[in-house]
Amino acid sequence: ERTRSTAYRAQLLTFKGDPARSADAAVFEEDGLLIVEDGRVAAAGAHAALAGRITPDTEVQDLRGKVIVPGFIDTHIHYPQTDMIASPAPGLLPWLETYTFPTERRFADPEYAADTANFFCDELLASGTTTALVYCTVHKSSADALFTASVARNMRMIAGKVLMDRNCPEFLRDTAQSGYDDSAELIGRWHNRGRQLYALTPRFAPTSTEAQLEACGVLAREHQDVFIQSHVAENVDEVKWVAELFPGHRSYLDVYDHYGLLRSRAVYGHCIHLDAEDRRRMAQTNTVASHCPTSNFFLGSGLFDFEKADEAGVPVALATDVGGGTSFSMLQTMNEAHKVARLSGYHLSATRMFWLATAGAAQALNLGDKIGTLAPQSEADFIVLDPAATPLLARRTSRVQSLEELLFAFALLGDDRAIFATYAAGACVHRRDARRERFAA
Ligand code: GUN
Ligand code: ZN
Repeated sequence: ERTRSTAYRAQLLTFKGDPARSADAAVFEEDGLLIVEDGRVAAAGAHAALAGRITPDTEVQDLRGKVIVPGFIDTHIHYPQTDMIASPAPGLLPWLETYTFPTERRFADPEYAADTANFFCDELLASGTTTALVYCTVHKSSADALFTASVARNMRMIAGKVLMDRNCPEFLRDTAQSGYDDSAELIGRWHNRGRQLYALTPRFAPTSTEAQLEACGVLAREHQDVFIQSHVAENVDEVKWVAELFPGHRSYLDVYDHYGLLRSRAVYGHCIHLDAEDRRRMAQTNTVASHCPTSNFFLGSGLFDFEKADEAGVPVALATDVGGGTSFSMLQTMNEAHKVARLSGYHLSATRMFWLATAGAAQALNLGDKIGTLAPQSEADFIVLDPAATPLLARRTSRVQSLEELLFAFALLGDDRAIFATYAAGACVHRRDARRERFAA
């Protein structure tokens, strides 16, 4: 049986390091060729250097004028909040009470969960996101629904059932024991099944008892390679509440630390109201800060200090935080991340933001050998960006003088319209024009 090979001719962007640390970290080919075999990258480089590897069995796709980049990685998103994105509220806690909890209640119904999970995965792919760290609801079946939708598209997805046993409506509560049992069962069912990965998901400290956080810590020790995801230091009222609920801890982050929930593959959303000691501890434990700028603006939560986190050596990645976030697009997320940094006098370049949304995130999640670049043997998750997606983007990108200017135009002016196509493990899983036609019909 011969291997099936497809070659894509386009501009190529990949990374061999962090653009902030080395000047040649971003690798750009003006006339590039990406060769994919059996769902993996076989080669990526200059067309002139690789054209000899095209055989009569190779299918060649001419995408000249477009830009291939690794698929985006969204490190914090809530699939059950898809239907309540853009719901008005005066801040985090009232928004949770008024919109989030009633919406999450509906996921007791597996049919509703399946329908939402399918729409959610398609919306991610339409936005160029091929991997996401996803919160489900407290219902075990909500995680089954999300993983089932992900398997159908062969996405590399990381997700988990929410753990929540207090300070929320009765109908959304588990217990320390049932949360432990359900999570263990879901790990057995989904973790490392194909491309699926599990994340232990205590919603945030206020909605878990000490017994539940302790049980979560036990699971984390029992399963060293599963992910952990939660929220920390998003909002000043939330920080005050945690201080009341967990007296005797040095800080909000210290509560998670106490239960053994800071480590590699632990990812905390927001990280806004942290101090130097918190940042030092995150860096020391290789715990990831997930920066969610559209959500932080929308809920008025505050401004993530990118420069301080970066200087302290905290691994940082970007995320949408839909439905607190206002867009599924990692391009729109970069737009807002740039502005958050700008407000503190820090210049976050587009080249760095594309790294943060791809190779940087993959590295922070300990998945750098599998996703995030176009390196040989990587899983072929990539997207095709269209510099002429809109009249304005076409006009601006036709005048760019550098890679940074090109990427900056995509980040500031782009959204799902700029994603011409998306590939997961070498298979086309989204075509912009076909989806538009289906929607119009
Ligand atoms: N903190 C606890 N739950 C949530 C949530 O669903 N969204 C956000 N943005 N913050 C939270
Ligand atoms: Zn969130």
